[in-house]
Amino acid sequence: MPLFKKKTTSAAQLPPPRHIAIIMDGNGRWATRKGLPRTAGHAAGSEVFRRIATYCRDIGVEYLTVYAFSTENWKRSEEEVSAIMGLLKQYLFEALEKMERDKIRLKFFGDLRRLSPELLELIDRTDKTSAKYQGFQANICLNYGGRDEIVHAARAFAQACTTGEAKPEDLTESVFSDYLYSAGIPDPDLIIRPSGEIRISNFLLWQSAYAEYYFTDVLWPDFTPAELDKAIAAFHRRNRRFGGV
Ligand code: IPE
Ligand code: IPE
Ligand code: MG
Repeated sequence: MPLFKKKTTSAAQLPPPRHIAIIMDGNGRWATRKGLPRTAGHAAGSEVFRRIATYCRDIGVEYLTVYAFSTENWKRSEEEVSAIMGLLKQYLFEALEKMERDKIRLKFFGDLRRLSPELLELIDRTDKTSAKYQGFQANICLNYGGRDEIVHAARAFAQACTTGEAKPEDLTESVFSDYLYSAGIPDPDLIIRPSGEIRISNFLLWQSAYAEYYFTDVLWPDFTPAELDKAIAAFHRRNRRFGGV
């Protein structure tokens, strides 16, 4: 029974944050502790993503953004990287098959050009096929880096200036936001990082300006809807001032 029901407004059951972001960390340690190869942790983590995404949809969260693969994760062994890419393919195949049932708008943030043509084709198909679903959107960050995203946006804006489409003096925070992968999406209200690491690891650097953070020692493959409820309950105890009083 979810603690936070869809679109509730009573003081006891406040509505969930509109946008939740998660650094899905701890897969490798989870597997190692069980004497399994790290890739088994990624497989378990991908199941947890499915479960948490569905749960977020069911309790009325509008946007879920997950960090699945960073611009720095290419440093890992070829074996681990290709296992992660394989799991992604598997996830996308299934998402395409179950789209009518799940009704999740799926979007992808990151420099996707480095991904394989096969994966790119699947991403493109998923993006287009899911465009009709409007209630809940999951953004999957792939080859994503917060700094890379900002550089990419700055370059696109500079390019627009050279063609006369934009003028440097017109640049505002809001205009700049429209050049980010997250264009048109509200900033995350709550950013969750499991696995005990207290750092941001290049995730949503621009968008996190006023996000509330929630850190837990639970490893991502052990993360449950009840853990998410705890994070949301902590979020509701925060006093967000946005620089005011
Ligand atoms: C997160 O889990 C998944 C990716 C970064 C792709 P990790 O693989 O980083 O797991 P730990 O941090 O080594 O336990
Ligand atoms: C962040 O986790 C990236 C993802 C979860 C996809 P990492 O495991 O790569 O981060 P660090 O190396 O602990 O900072
Ligand atoms: Mg990690």
